[in-house]
Amino acid sequence: MSRLLLEGISRVFEKEGGQSTQALDNVSLDIKAKEFVCFIGPSGCGKTTLLRAIAGLDTPDSGKITLDNEHITVPDPRRGMVFQEYSLFPWRTVMHNITFGLEMQGMGKKEVIEIADKYLKLVGLEQFKNSYPYELSGGMRQRVAIARALANEPKVLLMDEPFGALDAQTRNILQQELLQIWEKKGVTILFVTHSVDEAVYLADRIVVMSARPGKIKEVINVDLLRPRDRTSHEVNTLRERLLNMLAEARDQ
Ligand SMILES: Nc1ncnc2c1ncn2[C@@H]1O[C@H](COP(=O)(O)OP(=O)(O)O)[C@@H](O)[C@H]1O
Ligand SMILES: [Mg+2]
Repeated sequence: MSRLLLEGISRVFEKEGGQSTQALDNVSLDIKAKEFVCFIGPSGCGKTTLLRAIAGLDTPDSGKITLDNEHITVPDPRRGMVFQEYSLFPWRTVMHNITFGLEMQGMGKKEVIEIADKYLKLVGLEQFKNSYPYELSGGMRQRVAIARALANEPKVLLMDEPFGALDAQTRNILQQELLQIWEKKGVTILFVTHSVDEAVYLADRIVVMSARPGKIKEVINVDLLRPRDRTSHEVNTLRERLLNMLAEARDQ
């Protein structure tokens, strides 16, 4: 289950003075439960707008988004979101960043701590539970953000360039860890990235978007076994194909 269906999603942002931006134009996609889908495309092609609509943080002008036939109109912890950076509460400890959403749901204190402990362990940060975000590296902060989203047991995890601010080595490690978590938790992941390498390493399917207006240009199935060898011939061939597509998407 957990089928996520996007049907003809369009979104226009009206500007004062009459000018408007069409951020999304008739985007349709059928995403299976537990699928790992990466979105890639030039800046401004509507990737964030699309994730926000799926999160229920923004309402499309036309089209429909459903999760298991349920129309999405408002945010729900079952659709967790992880942003690029600055998404943790700086005044709360690691532990209390993770407990926040659960407390909001009115869950009992003991249960909240148990769940938070479980997810801290999953992302390997048990020893840092009493630290504050400023005491952590960028990679550790993103692990906390992932644990916080997962603590709500989401069916769908929406990730908007979550590793974009990390150095290359940390990024590779977090990609591996995310795949392990994804396999273990059986969650559907929608992952926006600027990086062709990242998309090829992670995705079951890669959605290539083009800008102005934001449309789906192509959907590519990645039929390579995991863990993928980042330097293999197949990976390189696919990277080259994607780079060409992105160059075209930019020129359109
Ligand atoms: N709240 C908003 N108000 C006006 N324009 C917006 C708003 N959000 C996004 N846009 C515009 O919509 C387009 C798509 O933006 P976005 O979804 O952020 O693209 P991406 O994440 O792919 O870089 C851009 O042209 C952007 O300027
Ligand atoms: Mg964006």
